[in-house]
Amino acid sequence: MQFPEYRPRRLRRTESLRRMVRETLLTVDSFIYPLFVIPGKATRKPIGSMPGQSQVSVDEAVAEAQECQALGIPALILFGVPDKKDAVGSEAWNDDGLVQRATREIKRACPELTVVLDACFDEYTTHGHCGVMVDGDVDNDATLENLGRVALSQAKAGADVIAPSGMMDGFVGWCRDQLDEGGFEHVPIMAYSAKYASCFYGPFREAAGTANEFGHRRTYQMDPANGHEAIREVTMDAAEGADFIMVKPALAYLDVIARVRDEVDLPVAAYNVSGEYAMLKAAAERGWLDHDRAVLETLTSIKRAGADLILTYHAKEAAVLLRKG
Ligand code: PBG
Repeated sequence: MQFPEYRPRRLRRTESLRRMVRETLLTVDSFIYPLFVIPGKATRKPIGSMPGQSQVSVDEAVAEAQECQALGIPALILFGVPDKKDAVGSEAWNDDGLVQRATREIKRACPELTVVLDACFDEYTTHGHCGVMVDGDVDNDATLENLGRVALSQAKAGADVIAPSGMMDGFVGWCRDQLDEGGFEHVPIMAYSAKYASCFYGPFREAAGTANEFGHRRTYQMDPANGHEAIREVTMDAAEGADFIMVKPALAYLDVIARVRDEVDLPVAAYNVSGEYAMLKAAAERGWLDHDRAVLETLTSIKRAGADLILTYHAKEAAVLLRKG
């Protein structure tokens, strides 16, 4: 149909018509809220580059979990920011480590809430890389050995979902085998399948204390210029037994989310990362953007691109905005 017989504006005339033809519905069910857990008690340390976000001690993490539950947010993802680091990141598989303790406490207080644990090493290594360094690069297979230990320790602590994030080859199959052997065949894996070597993780590096001492992550995270390769990574992870597929970051990679959505029938998650959050907050602070509209438009765009789930620091404020309608 052509103009003037067809006029697309007819269906935009009133709010009820617009509601009736709206294609993408953003709901709180899609949100996963990230938390950074630090040692101590009754401690909250605001993260300068992420206004509104803080590093929190285990007891405060429980309070955050309760707040999320009250808002209807179904899930949290936890990152540990320990004061003990070594060359291989062995604190990551300490059964009494920060995220393990936080998981036990949160599951006790909020059994229905889903706790996702990021299985990686960069918060736990002195050099800030995501595994065991050999000759200046992360050694894939040595890192897998340790990753299995992390996944098991996290599952033992009661994690509902394990999310390996280091982009090691074969990491999904490896975690699946380890979990199954350990009696955790019921614990799903959320694979950071297409994770790019992105500058948009900048603020996270402050939040999680993971600034690299040397080098870069381009030998394991993906080149931002590559799209087909994302499909290859996703296909491999699905074949190895991933239960969820993740694309990260989200906003500069909406095309990748859309392609991945077409390619797999697994739930797709997208990580609306720290730098995306920081950009929006900075512009809103200067009065350059309408904050609330920018939050909802951003999250809706990620959903429209094809993500079922969104890991986002906006989760709590977006839940409040959606409630207001
Ligand atoms: C790695 C990890 C990172 C993020 C989540 N998991 C950092 C990295 O790979 O450099 C980034 C999340 C964000 O920027 O919000 N453990």
